Formats: sequence, structure tokens, C-alpha cells
Amino acid sequence: MYEATVSAPVNIACIKYWGKRNTKLILPTNSSLSVTLDQDHLRSTTTSRADESFEKGDRLWLNGKEETVKEDGRLGVCIKELRNWRKVEEDKDGSLPKLSKWPLRIASYNNFPTAAGLASSASGLAALVASLSKLYSLPQTPSQLSLIARQGSGSACRSLFGGFVAWREGSNEDGSDSLAEEVAPQGHWPEMHALICVVSDAKKGTSSTSGMQRTVETSTLLQHRLKIVPGRMEEISKAIKDRDFQKFGEITMKDSNSFHSVCLDTSPPIFYLNDVSKSIIASIEELNRSSGEIVAAYTFDAGPNAVIYALEKNIPKVLGVITKFFPTSEENSDPFGTAAEALPEGYNTN
Ligand code: ADP
Ligand code: DP6
Ligand code: CO
Repeated sequence: MYEATVSAPVNIACIKYWGKRNTKLILPTNSSLSVTLDQDHLRSTTTSRADESFEKGDRLWLNGKEETVKEDGRLGVCIKELRNWRKVEEDKDGSLPKLSKWPLRIASYNNFPTAAGLASSASGLAALVASLSKLYSLPQTPSQLSLIARQGSGSACRSLFGGFVAWREGSNEDGSDSLAEEVAPQGHWPEMHALICVVSDAKKGTSSTSGMQRTVETSTLLQHRLKIVPGRMEEISKAIKDRDFQKFGEITMKDSNSFHSVCLDTSPPIFYLNDVSKSIIASIEELNRSSGEIVAAYTFDAGPNAVIYALEKNIPKVLGVITKFFPTSEENSDPFGTAAEALPEGYNTN
């Protein structure tokens, strides 16, 4: 039996992906940009096995529970593409074991809430693609692998890189240029921290996939957003290159608010933020106002949980404001990492 295990971290977008122009290939309506958190915190760990003696058909377990792998579904498509790449290598080198012919057994675990708006589909599908790539000893680059991860879950293509990552929307109809690339490595701006505040670990009511589809079909505000995003991509990339937190924070908060406005403009409307989320927004806005500069930037994905970006020197200030929402937990933070201790009581983070 052949086996490979890989972990992939989550990434949290500063410029949000929300909308597909092609739902089958997962081609987005706009480019997006995110920060990949470090491996020590929110991550998916996936083990893939291939063996000649396995019964026919691929099988996958997520957090110990079996998920159906449909051949033409997202998992099935990722597996098929990677298997084809393996087949190419086997055809080139006849001495390689014929792993491409063997059924797969895949087990994945998330060490944080799944489907709760904390980007589990991003780390999950990135870990799946990375583990199969390792199992099959594929020669493809992370950008090439991102083309496959993208078809599992759009945001997953960005988790194949660390640091600051862009997903270029691309213009080719077949999706061959809709891929992720590094904007800057993590080491470029090590003072940048991300604080994850788990407001709720419940599964979200509207999945990202169905929510964004509804937005594309019904929101007129989305068309306005799509005109603004390209400029923001340029500006935030420059802010990252210049290590300009003022600009980085300003754009990050604006884009989060723009994304949630578009959700509200969807019919029926989608509400991902709750009262705690809104209080966190108000507190960070007040902190920035009273500091006379942006010291912290909030962003929310498709759920009520806040991610707050701040420079290391300002973390104590931010924690002073945020702890009141999590009075029972002991917050702290790690370089470029997360306040995993803000996770719900009893949640195993290891
Ligand atoms: P999230 O906000 O957590 O990304 P989504 O609605 O985008 O929520 O996606 C959640 C779905 O992603 C899960 O229901 C599951 O199908 C898939 N997923 C999450 N984690 C994994 C994983 N580790 N391996 C494979 N698939 C995963
Ligand atoms: C709000 O990547 O989860 O987190 O491609 O349908 O799987 P699918 O959606 P997904 O959407 C993520 C949306 C977001 C913004 C972002 O991560 O860019
Ligand atoms: Co997701």
C-alpha cells in the first residue's frame, strides 16, 4: 500500500471571492487576495492511500464520517485530474507502480469547525490535492496544482501557497489561467498577525456555494462591486509590498463590508453577520478612531466569525478590546497565527 499525509492551513481573504462565472469549472467573477495562516493553527490534515486490493471505487471520510465521492462531483473531479497526471508519469516511466489504476481511501480531519465560515473548504480541498500530489509524486508546481484545487472549492487554490496570495480570475474559457500565485511570502511581513475570533462554531445556514450563486442571479449591487475590485487588487498588492498597514487595513475592511452588502442585496437576503459580529466591527472602528490610525482590520467570511489583522506591536491593544466578547477565554496571539484559544471551550485544537 502507498500512503501520503499532508496538512494545509486555512487562508482568509482580504479581497473576497464571491461569485462564479462558470460553476462547473469554478471560474470566479473577480480576482481575490488572501493571507494564508500558519500551519500551527487552523488546518486540515489529509491521508490518502492507494492499494491494488481495495474494493473498486474511491472513498473519503471527513472528520470520521464518510462523504459520498461522486465521479462528476467536486471531489471526484479533483481525484480524476490528479489521477490523469499520475497516468502521464506512469506512461513516461514504465517502472513506476500503476497507482493510477488503484482505488483510493482518503481520510481528512479539520482541527477547527467545519462549514462554519472559517474556510474549511479552502484548507480541506488544498490538503486533499496536496496529499494526492504527494502520493502520486507529481512534478506539477503549486500554481498548476491550484488549477485542480480551484475545482474542488474556489478558495482552496489560495491555500497551496503561504503568505500573501492572489487568485487571478483569468480570461481563458477553459480556466487554464485561473490560478493562484504568491504576492509576497510570509517572511516579507512577519509583523502581521491574524486573530481568529470564533463567535459561533455552528454550520452556516447558507453554504458559500449556494449563497454566491444566489448573489450572481439576483444582486444588482454585485455588478458595481465587480467594477471596484480590480482597483482594490492593485492597491492592496502595493500596500503589502510597501508593508503599509494603513492602506492594507482600509481596503480589507472596505472589501469585507462590500461583500456583506452584496449578500444583503441578494434575494432572499443572506445574513452572515450576527449582533456579536456587528459589535466587533463597531469596537474595532472605535479603536481605530481613538488611536488616530488603523491599528486593526476586521474581515468576515461567509459566517459570523471575525478575523482581525493587526501588527504585532498593536496586538495587546486589540486584545484589550476583543476580550470583552470572549470573557471566558484567555486570548493571545502568535506570529502570523491565530488566537486558537478563542475557539469554543472543549474544542481540541491539536
Ligand atoms: P467553509 O466556510 O468552512 O469553507 P463551505 O460551505 O465553503 O464552508 O464548505 C464546507 C464544505 O467543504 C464541507 O461541507 C465539506 O464538503 C468540504 N470540506 C471541508 N473540510 C474538508 C476536508 N478536510 N476535506 C474534504 N472536504 C472538506
Ligand atoms: C466568503 O471557496 O467556500 O470565504 O468555490 O463554492 O467552494 P466554493 O466557495 P468557497 O467561497 C469562499 C467565499 C469567502 C471569500 C473568500 O474566501 O475569498
Ligand atoms: Co468555503
